[in-house]
Order: sequence, then C-alpha cells, then structure tokens
Amino acid sequence: MLTLALPKSRLLDSVVELADTRGLGLGAAVREAGRALVLETGDLRLLLLKDADVPVYVEQGVAECGVAGLDQILERDADVVRLLRLPFGHCRLCLIARDTAAAAEEGRPLVIASKYPRLAARLAAARGRHAHIIPLAGSVELAARLGLADFVVDLVETGRTLRENGLHPVEEWLRVAPYLIANRAAFYVQRDEIRALRRRLQQE
Ligand code: PRP
Repeated sequence: MLTLALPKSRLLDSVVELADTRGLGLGAAVREAGRALVLETGDLRLLLLKDADVPVYVEQGVAECGVAGLDQILERDADVVRLLRLPFGHCRLCLIARDTAAAAEEGRPLVIASKYPRLAARLAAARGRHAHIIPLAGSVELAARLGLADFVVDLVETGRTLRENGLHPVEEWLRVAPYLIANRAAFYVQRDEIRALRRRLQQE
C-alpha cells in the first residue's frame, strides 16, 4: 500500500476530481473524512496535510508520494522526485506592489513580505537584488497595502486578490504548478507501484 500526502488547501478538490476521473476513487473517502487526517481507500493511505508540510513528509519517507506545489517544494528545498506536473492550479509567483512603477531606491534592499522567505530571497538574489525579507504566514497582500513592506512575493492565480486589494504584479519570478512527487528511496524500492500511480494520473 502506498501512502499519498495531500494538501488540504484549495488544491485538494482538483486532486480528488482528477483521481476520481482516473478511477482512484478518493472522493468518497475525503468527503467522509470529517476531521480525520489519515484515510484508507483502496490501495492508498491518504495523509491530509498543510501544503507546506507535504514535501517534508515525502522527503522523510513517511509518505512515498504526495502532491505539492513547486512553490512549496522549492521553499522547503525538498530533495524529492518530481514525477508528474498536474494539469490544474497553474499560477505565477510574482513581485507585487501598490504601484506598477514601484522600484527600490538605488542601493537600498527590496523590503519584501512573503510566505516564501527562502524562495523569495533566492529568486531576488538570482536577479542581482538585495532583499530584506519579512516572513508572514498568510494574507500577505495586506503587508503591501498597509505599508508593512514595499513589496510582496506571492502567488497570483486569477489576480482577484490583487485587484481587490489595489495591488499590481510588478515582475513574474516563477511559474508554479502542482506536482506528483515521490520519496527518492521509495521511487526505487516501490518503483512499480509508484509508476502505476503516475500512469493513472497522467493526461490521456
Ligand atoms: C493564495 C495566494 C494569494 C491568492 C492568489 O492565497 O497566496 O493570496 O491565493 O489567488 P488569486 O490570484 O486567484 O486571487 P491562499 O488562498 O492560499 O490563502 P493565504 O494567503 O491565506 O495563504
């Protein structure tokens, strides 16, 4: 039996829908889960986790497989196998500000609020920018709106959160999608089972 770590966020509905159309039948188990965090359904044991924790459980081998956004994989710097890019939840990690013409003063670091402190610092450095990062847990758009930071680095999917908070994407820093991921050792030891799962989730 494979253990599959799933994010409890807005990605969960899309993962379950995809799995159900491929005959994996996760929907009934997830809908009946109540507050349970571990479920068994057919050949799979499901762990329902915070998005940021999925790469951790998979990297450590508690779950052989998982579904995690590239944002969370890179923020955690998780050493996992990316098996399959999933066909939903595609978005952009952007540098965001109140003003489209916003730019840091010469010689001053970019002051950036983000749920992705490590990734934001790395992506800023890759662009030759010095950044001072303010780590936050969520609703980060408020930080730019209320002046806690000059910039925010966050995901933009439909753009609605930005529009409703009077903010603008200034630069796109990374294209993000969710991936089916696997633990490195499990990918060799349970290769057949893991490949069978990937085949089932793959686009026809
Ligand atoms: C994510 C992201 C943005 C929003 C973008 O937040 O951090 O805030 O979605 O989506 P949109 O472009 O479609 O509006 P999430 O809903 O995960 O909540 P959080 O900010 O509390 O983490």
